[in-house]
Amino acid sequence: MSLQLWTNCRVATMQADAAQAYGLIEDAAMVVDAGQLQWVGPRSGLPSTLQQRCDVVHDAHGALITPGLIDCHTHLVYGGDRALEFELRLKGASYEDIARQGGGIASTVQATRNATPDELLQQSQRRLLALLAEGVTTLEIKSGYGLALLHERKTLQVARLLGEMHGVDVRTTFLGAHAVPPEFAGRTDAYMDEVLRILPLLHAEGLVDAVDAFCERIAFNPAQVARLFAQARRLNLPVKLHAEQLSDSGGAQLAASFGAISCDHLEWLSDEGAAAMAAAGTVAVLLPGAFYFLRESRMPPVDLLRQHRVPMAVSTDCNPGTSPCSSLLLMLNMACTLFRLTPEEALTGVTRHAAQALGLRDRGVLAAGMRADFVLWDLQHPAQLSYALGARPFVQTVFNGQPR
Ligand code: NIG
Ligand code: FE
Repeated sequence: MSLQLWTNCRVATMQADAAQAYGLIEDAAMVVDAGQLQWVGPRSGLPSTLQQRCDVVHDAHGALITPGLIDCHTHLVYGGDRALEFELRLKGASYEDIARQGGGIASTVQATRNATPDELLQQSQRRLLALLAEGVTTLEIKSGYGLALLHERKTLQVARLLGEMHGVDVRTTFLGAHAVPPEFAGRTDAYMDEVLRILPLLHAEGLVDAVDAFCERIAFNPAQVARLFAQARRLNLPVKLHAEQLSDSGGAQLAASFGAISCDHLEWLSDEGAAAMAAAGTVAVLLPGAFYFLRESRMPPVDLLRQHRVPMAVSTDCNPGTSPCSSLLLMLNMACTLFRLTPEEALTGVTRHAAQALGLRDRGVLAAGMRADFVLWDLQHPAQLSYALGARPFVQTVFNGQPR
């Protein structure tokens, strides 16, 4: 396999502790060996022996290059939509009211169960293509709208298939504990028994990379989540949690006690929760799309997270109920305008910290030894990625060393 040289570019490496903001290298060069970066640095420092061994030279025409973007929290595979519920909410109904009356997640469960695998694939593919057109190279997809073995399996299979079809790395998360399905209404513990039964079966089929739950008064309490996480631990699967989105239920502390790779949402996160996450090395995944779409007013405690040095990731939360969003660039802007992240924190949140939120150490940063997943942008400076709305600065993705 030949070595490829990329030149005539500035590279935001996003390396931690770099001297320059964004790890920015002006007039950079990168050498790619198959799917891996072999060398990244200023062009003037490229060893001539290495340059001579490169038999393909790509001129990036002055593009800005960043790591491939990572969307670390999506529910991208689902049937139908919730536009009518959106209207109800605009007229005053709350998200929790609608859920208690059997709408909300339950209505998407119905639509997802009714969809054939092919219908589910077609509907979900549109959302995926939108993300790819903005430079996403890795994304997480959760189940959680099937809530029965057959339909959870169907969802996870569609997620895997989408990855294979479109040259993007899909990480699947089992979210069987997203809501209690109608056939278990009022029997949450019995449904949790069923979730514990299903998880090892789907894991044995190679469909599960991580385990998640919705810890909330309208979903599962910490004791119920603890049973699930104990099962995940037996299977050696990493855990993450939808925590403190609508109220503070102590989910973050629980998740941290299981060494969770991430806690997500966190609008109601307490000081104790942040401290526990810091001690456990748990990433805080911020989801400004859901905050915006639910017209929330309580912000996640970003200063507290900074004080505790909890890494912050940013994601779309792409889902039909709280964040019907297929634009990770829009989330960069919202993370800055709504949550007051700096553009550098926001970009770190969809690269290095997003990789960490998925437990992946081989991406999110451009450096020798990392995966050759990167994006060319028609931009001068990485802050512009967070700045403009709908500007379409995307030029090209390189996935696994190959221009896509
Ligand atoms: O991440 N919080 C729970 N789950 C989703 C929303 C699910 C839905 O309403 O369909 C979320 O916000
Ligand atoms: Fe979510």
